[in-house]
Amino acid sequence: MTKILLTTTSYQDTPGPHHELLDSIGAEIHRERGPLSEDKMLELAGEFDAFLCGDDMITQAVIDKSLPRLKIISKYGIGVDKIDVKYATEKGIPLLFCPGVNHTTVAEHTFALMLSLSRKFVEEVNFVREGNWKRLTGNELMGKKIGVIGLGRIGKEVSTRAKAFSMPVMGYDLYWPEEFANEHEIEKAGSLEDIFTTCDIVSLHTNLTPETENMINAASMATMKKGVMILNCARGELVSTSDMVAALESGQVGGYGTDVLDQEPPPADHPLLTAPNCVITPHIGSRTYESVERQAMMATQNLLNCLKGEKPLAQVNDAPIPEALI
Ligand SMILES: NC(=O)c1ccc[n+]([C@@H]2O[C@H](COP(=O)([O-])OP(=O)(O)OC[C@H]3O[C@@H](n4cnc5c(N)ncnc54)[C@H](O)[C@@H]3O)[C@@H](O)[C@H]2O)c1
Repeated sequence: MTKILLTTTSYQDTPGPHHELLDSIGAEIHRERGPLSEDKMLELAGEFDAFLCGDDMITQAVIDKSLPRLKIISKYGIGVDKIDVKYATEKGIPLLFCPGVNHTTVAEHTFALMLSLSRKFVEEVNFVREGNWKRLTGNELMGKKIGVIGLGRIGKEVSTRAKAFSMPVMGYDLYWPEEFANEHEIEKAGSLEDIFTTCDIVSLHTNLTPETENMINAASMATMKKGVMILNCARGELVSTSDMVAALESGQVGGYGTDVLDQEPPPADHPLLTAPNCVITPHIGSRTYESVERQAMMATQNLLNCLKGEKPLAQVNDAPIPEALI
């Protein structure tokens, strides 16, 4: 019988038609609460035909241990930075993913973090709950210049929402979306420095790569406006944690709103948990009923197509689709 490892918690915890679609495969489903460490993946690997995974560590060693049985990896989501894509491709394993289903939800979450910081929302709600009618003064977003680093699907949605808030937008991307930028009057940054030195708010929306890892560090934050707000709905590793803590403590960074951390879940002594003006959510940027359903349907349909030997809706690599397994 075909055996599938399912690890994503939002997929499992959210009702929707994806459960029936998965059942329709008629496979044995082994359920775990991800994201799983490399050790846990190594413990499990070897007995599955397919992974329906989130941000679990799928390293070279995990792939080796999973073979020869593993035929398909269906990523529930868009970021594939925890998967050794090159090695999976070398081993002929198709890697499927879900572009174009969660970008509006993540953009809305970026605004939730932005508004939380600008209006000191978390502090104020906590004061009132404690019976304390303490009124703090916040900042307006109108007129604040936002720098969007990575004008991909999510970055574009953040930009159009920023425009609706009357915020000037400067964008930076390796591939400049000329038509979109012209249509929405997005200023083109010639370099990252243009963003760092001129923006009041910096929002990160690139994928995690060796080039983007730690792009926000002591040196880059020192070039930013004092009191800058930094938002991260992409990956924790884009930001140096120790440098961010120091910048928050000194006031160089006025607020860090992040949905992601370099260690998820964080250990109890993770320094950002107690850093000033830091609002952290537990990687829920794409976790809405609407987005989970779209993403879960796409990840399951990708898997189903591939199990039938058919083309998936979206594939990261060019590994050939195996012959039908069901
Ligand atoms: N918080 C969450 O729950 C959540 C949900 C979805 C995605 N994400 C993260 O958000 C990232 C972006 O998602 P997306 O759907 O917009 O992806 P996307 O591929 O559409 O956009 C990423 C953009 O970053 C650009 N980019 C890559 N490297 C760059 C660099 N060195 N400098 C400048 N630009 C660079 C790319 O050209 C691309 O336009 C994902 O890779 C993922 O890590 C997080």
